[in-house]
Amino acid sequence: MKVQTKITLLLAAVIATFLVGLWAFNAYDQLQFRRIADERWRERNESLDTFLAQWGDPLRIFALDYSNLDDMVGAIRANDQTWLDENLSEPTLDSFHANAVWIFGLDGAPVWQKNNLSAPELQFPVPREQFPQLFAKESFCHFFIKVGGDIIEIRGGTVHASRDFARQTRSGYLFVGRLWSKPMLREMSMFTGNEVTLLSPPTRSGENINDEENGLVAFSRPLPSWDGKPLAQLVVRNESPVVRELKRSSRWLLYSLFLFAFVLLILLTSSLVRWVSRPLRHIMQSLKQNDPRPVEQLSRDSSEFGELARTVHKFFEQRDNLMREMEERRATEEALRKSEEELRHSQKMEAVGRLAGGVAHDFNNLLTAIIGYAELISAREAGESTTRQHADLIRKAGEQAATLTRQLLAFSRKQMLQPKVIDLNQLVVDMERLLRRVIGERFDLQTLPDAEVGTVLADPTQVEQVILNLGVNARDAMPRGGKLIIRTANVHLDKWRAPQISVSLAEGDYVELSVTDTGEGMDEETKSRIFEPFFTTKGPGKGTGLGLATVYGIVRQTGGGISVESELSKGSTFRIYLPLERAPVDHVAPVQAPLEKSSNFETVLVAEDEEIVRELVCDVLSEQGYNVMCAVDGIEAMQKAKEYDGHIHLLITDVIMPHMNGQELAEQLSAARPDMKVLFVSGYSDNDIGDHGVIDARIDLLQKPFTPQTLARKIRDVIQEGKYADVAGS
Ligand SMILES: Nc1ncnc2c1ncn2[C@@H]1O[C@H](COP(=O)(O)OP(=O)(O)OP(=O)(O)O)[C@@H](O)[C@H]1O
Ligand SMILES: [Mg+2]
Repeated sequence: MKVQTKITLLLAAVIATFLVGLWAFNAYDQLQFRRIADERWRERNESLDTFLAQWGDPLRIFALDYSNLDDMVGAIRANDQTWLDENLSEPTLDSFHANAVWIFGLDGAPVWQKNNLSAPELQFPVPREQFPQLFAKESFCHFFIKVGGDIIEIRGGTVHASRDFARQTRSGYLFVGRLWSKPMLREMSMFTGNEVTLLSPPTRSGENINDEENGLVAFSRPLPSWDGKPLAQLVVRNESPVVRELKRSSRWLLYSLFLFAFVLLILLTSSLVRWVSRPLRHIMQSLKQNDPRPVEQLSRDSSEFGELARTVHKFFEQRDNLMREMEERRATEEALRKSEEELRHSQKMEAVGRLAGGVAHDFNNLLTAIIGYAELISAREAGESTTRQHADLIRKAGEQAATLTRQLLAFSRKQMLQPKVIDLNQLVVDMERLLRRVIGERFDLQTLPDAEVGTVLADPTQVEQVILNLGVNARDAMPRGGKLIIRTANVHLDKWRAPQISVSLAEGDYVELSVTDTGEGMDEETKSRIFEPFFTTKGPGKGTGLGLATVYGIVRQTGGGISVESELSKGSTFRIYLPLERAPVDHVAPVQAPLEKSSNFETVLVAEDEEIVRELVCDVLSEQGYNVMCAVDGIEAMQKAKEYDGHIHLLITDVIMPHMNGQELAEQLSAARPDMKVLFVSGYSDNDIGDHGVIDARIDLLQKPFTPQTLARKIRDVIQEGKYADVAGS
């Protein structure tokens, strides 16, 4: 049962008890009142009886005295009218308050009669033959007769001689009457203090005219006729206005108390609703809805409910804090899990990368020699001889192998990058034409350069490679055509999101490059392996599985991260995040000089530890007309330079060599020969040069494997535009 219901019931019980008390009090009051009324009634009865007895006494005495007189006996017998007239004169009647006298003989014959009423002769209504019957038991009788509209009280007695005390011998009958006229009744009322009236006898017995409620005490006395039947009734009313007034005021008091109780009940109920029910409802509502708002106002209250509301509020706050903490913890755990996964993945990729990089390095040197000599043979053999054809085939195979090693190096992040500040927006737009040509016209290609600031520090050639690889993959994933969207955007990666993409990624601003296709998508198994080198689903001869490995390597080496979302038969999105670089875009125009043989016999010093590469380079240079000095390492190169007095135009040095690396050699030689240009040749990067394979864009670098053609062109470019001296000097 609700508290409100309980309290209301309790209140109702209190009020009901109060009302029952009132009712009991009223009942007791009524009882008391009835007792007093009964008492009053009895008193009134008694006093009336006493009064009537005293009132009728003269008439009784008259009847008693004049019926026991010898003279009366004589007068009846002798019919002595004179005696009767003299002795029963009007003054005599008056002295007995009598109004009429009738005297009859023993046979009932009228002897004498007299009255002082208006009627000279009053007809006595009792038939004479009934006289003996009237006095059968007693010598006196008392009854009432009606004459006209008036009532006359009659006292009668048998007439005896004075010595007949026992009233044995009758000589006649005597009746004396008194008129109960209206004045007399008024007089009676005055004497008794009651209102006395005469009414006809009641038709129904037990009719109660008592009205104690209004302070009225009333009762009646039957007035018997001679035959005992009621002739009329004497009604006595005694009214007390004070009682009526008291009664009324007590009733009003009762009504007022009832009304008061009712108003009190309503007041208490509404107060309880205000003080108890409403706050409780708000608290319940707040708890049920899990919302602190319903108790906000209540919590400003100083009552216990206010205290409770504040506690509820606090509870919600603590709960929210707890939930926030739990959420943060969950997010941290999730981030940790992802980071671990990423770490495991990157460790795996690292190991594979190291292996691939090692193999590629050795292959590069070999391939440089294979391609180089094949090209030299081909150049020396004139016409379409078989030797030249074979040499061309060797060169082609070597170039294919070189592509593979380049990709492997890219994946293992061992290739030399020459980053510049570039605008990804511009790059994406510039790539659009090339991409369209590569992927074909069946695709709806959209480039959306949405990033507000698209500048990043990256090797543009490599980023182009990335977009190309992703575009080609998208094309392959949409054999029936589809949509390819390349978009850039500015994003901020917070401390949770960044490591989820790549463990090494720090919180900060990035430019996001996304490539989205509506192709066939990937399952989880494929998705987890796509960056592994040689992982492909494209079947033998169709894919090498190095595309995404290259992308991965380039992105990571550039200091970025890559993530992929994919859903089977819906499509895939690759997102690349490169750190935002807030610097102006570098505009280094590519140097394109026409290839020409040296005619000035410029001197070139070559330092290369790999014999086959060294010999190839020296052969090519001699062929091109240069004056060539070949050294097996940095030490020998230093020695040869020392011994040579003439001007050395160019130093070609491998980056990684035993005893002294290319950079040290270049620095030391440049100090003595500031005009000397430097060209670095490298198979792959190492910590010895640049920063993890990232070298200054102003340095001239030739990557292995290279062809004699590219070597010759590069040498001409460097001799004419060489940059190293500026860098070393700055
Ligand atoms: N956009 C894409 N939609 C669906 N699958 C893809 C997508 N890109 C890559 N893949 C899956 O990842 C595998 C590896 O891709 P990756 O580019 O490394 O190699 P490849 O495309 O198979 O071969 P290559 O790039 O050397 O021609 C693909 O074989 C293909 O299964
Ligand atoms: Mg591919």
